[in-house]
Amino acid sequence: MRHREPIQFKADLLKGKEIIPVEATYDTKFSLMIQFLNGSKPSRKSDFTKLVFEKNGAQIEMGPCRFTTVSSKTGAHGRLIFYEDVYDFNSLFFENRLEKLQAEFQNVSLILAHKNKIKAKFKEYTANLTYDLTVYKNLFDKLDARMAGEPEEIQQHVQDAIIATEGRQFMIFLDKKLEEFEYLVANYNKKDHERHGFYFRKQLWSFILCSPFMARTNLKPRGYSGDSVMMNMIYANDYEGRSTFGKLMHKHPNEHPAAQAVRNRRDVIANILASYRAKDEKKNARHRKVLSVACGPAFELKNVLKTANDCATFHFTLLDQDTKALAEAKKLIAQLEKKYSAKIKVDYLNESVRTMLTTPALEKMWGKFDYIYSMGLFDYLTPPVAKAVLEKLYRILKVGGKMVIGNFHISNPSRFYMEYWLDWVLYYRSEQDLIDLLKSIPSAESDVFFEETGSQMFLRVKKAANR
Ligand SMILES: C[S@@+](CC[C@H](N)C(=O)[O-])C[C@H]1O[C@@H](n2cnc3c(N)ncnc32)[C@H](O)[C@@H]1O
Repeated sequence: MRHREPIQFKADLLKGKEIIPVEATYDTKFSLMIQFLNGSKPSRKSDFTKLVFEKNGAQIEMGPCRFTTVSSKTGAHGRLIFYEDVYDFNSLFFENRLEKLQAEFQNVSLILAHKNKIKAKFKEYTANLTYDLTVYKNLFDKLDARMAGEPEEIQQHVQDAIIATEGRQFMIFLDKKLEEFEYLVANYNKKDHERHGFYFRKQLWSFILCSPFMARTNLKPRGYSGDSVMMNMIYANDYEGRSTFGKLMHKHPNEHPAAQAVRNRRDVIANILASYRAKDEKKNARHRKVLSVACGPAFELKNVLKTANDCATFHFTLLDQDTKALAEAKKLIAQLEKKYSAKIKVDYLNESVRTMLTTPALEKMWGKFDYIYSMGLFDYLTPPVAKAVLEKLYRILKVGGKMVIGNFHISNPSRFYMEYWLDWVLYYRSEQDLIDLLKSIPSAESDVFFEETGSQMFLRVKKAANR
């Protein structure tokens, strides 16, 4: 949480043997505002060897810096900037830690040496791919430059034509390179994958950044893969990007089986809830309690709720650790309510499943559910956590209640594409691995089914009467 008010701290500026007491406040990310204390008179511009102050009982020394007078309403005399080591004052003032801008360079020799651990065949593949991508990028960029002066409508038309012809050919080329790649890394162990993935992304970084989707999966601005913006991109499956090449690099992964499997699961959930409803002994029951665990933006509700009557059938509890994802889910619910002129019962839970594990009487807090589903969560959970979460969910299911849990299968054909290009690593499972997560509850009736691409499977569970 950012402080709204500037915080001051007392410090000493050192120049030779001279020590000048000052008060420092936040100015910009890389500069401080300085007020000289004890009547010292600063000259318009002067250099100092150090700024010294105490933080959390430790003495901190910041290196050579330059003072320049600037007019200030707060009474400060001027600005201090550092000309050797540069410090990030956002981290100091708002995150209670001190970060040197150049800190990452400390590891540069390790990063440079990383290439020595890379297999020769892999280096050859990556070098050839880099050459080929450079050739394609240059060609597409040249076409972009040639159409640049045209009216927007014409540009759009020309770009569509390029995408439909050479663009699609380029995507076939990418498919072929990925086939070759699968073969190349097929026998690598986990460590090899990590090591070669790191090298691969460093080599192809400039191409990755051209694709809004690849850039986001790699940069992970919310700290994890699969945030609601990425999910939106997958659902939209559009040509997105600033250049024709970027658009193609964005679209290609979004056409791959794993992305299609994500799109398919919206209908999987809609169909399964519809079938539960059809089999419900209390026909026309209203407000059946449904829990979506790790709901994200809950786009599948567009597929689930298609009439005003659908809206009255369920009472949703949407749980996610990410407040931004929940805010998007809320927005979607408001849109659906407007569209169908209906009220939709929804509770929002900003929780992590990890805290859920440590809450003893969960059913007292949340009640019990008729249906529970979770898509895109178990792929991130290790076996012990996945097992504990599933057991806990089973406990808050009503007797006769049903649960559907998605997990990507070990044979996901997009696996290496995701791991190497997108830096998107999942916890893959076999059918048996998924079923075994509920081994401790033998009375649970379960089976596994797949969506159309075969890359994602679903554990279907029914709670039997005796548990
Ligand atoms: C890949 S998205 C899936 C979103 C949605 N279920 C869908 O299929 O579109 C993963 C979601 O899981 C959430 N998530 C990840 N770990 C979580 C945890 N430990 N507890 C709660 N939510 C979590 C993320 O915030 C994100 O919204």
